[in-house]
Amino acid sequence: MNDLKELIAKGHVTKTFDGSTLPADKIEAFLAFLHSTPASLNIQAIHYLVASTAEARARIAKSLVGGFEANAIKIESASHVLAFCTRMEVSDEHLAAVFDQEHADKKFPNDAQEQRWRDIVRGGLDMHIYDKRDLSHWLEKQTYLAMGMAMMAGAMLDIDVTPMEGFFAKSLDEEFGLREKGFTGTLLLAIGKRDPNDWILKVPKSRFPAAKIFTFLD
Ligand SMILES: Cc1cc2nc3c(=O)[nH]c(=O)nc-3n(C[C@H](O)[C@H](O)[C@H](O)COP(=O)(O)O)c2cc1C
Repeated sequence: MNDLKELIAKGHVTKTFDGSTLPADKIEAFLAFLHSTPASLNIQAIHYLVASTAEARARIAKSLVGGFEANAIKIESASHVLAFCTRMEVSDEHLAAVFDQEHADKKFPNDAQEQRWRDIVRGGLDMHIYDKRDLSHWLEKQTYLAMGMAMMAGAMLDIDVTPMEGFFAKSLDEEFGLREKGFTGTLLLAIGKRDPNDWILKVPKSRFPAAKIFTFLD
């Protein structure tokens, strides 16, 4: 496992992979971790498309239009590419499925606690739907959280990663019929082994000085 100092030194997002395929056990460990990532209210509004062949990666690459063509090299040279897709609404059916799963997994010690939790979830959702009116935005925040955790998991497993906002969601959605299923593409993640000649390794990281980023309160 990498330590944090090492990550700070070499944690550049990957710009080119070496074209090799990651070992199956690493992919399995990575996906098992993704499967376990949390979401507010346990809403579980993410679905992942996992492309492990050149053909599947090429289908995802069709969304690199309208100025996003520069991301093609990452998708072509990666081992696997994941599309992080988010539900745009929470239907009664989805909510019932979440509650059924929690019940089947015996998440609650007693019925009263289970009912209390269900009331909290309903109230939280109604707040996003009616008061804040930010349901889809809130759902996508959960997806970004999973992306952050995926990037750290990659670092721990020695998997190099490229998170990408740079794709045309409408094309991705059409290619995979996502909208018909209530989803849209939020982020892409290319994973693999970094090309040792990746140009980004030759330049330093650029961040504002710590004094601008942290305010220490007494
Ligand atoms: C959510 C997110 C989306 C990103 N999208 C892209 C992308 O579409 N293409 C790309 O080449 N890099 C992308 N990046 C990488 C950032 O541009 C990069 O991490 C940033 O410039 C800092 O550079 P460094 O990782 O080399 O320190 C993305 C990073 C994040 C966190």
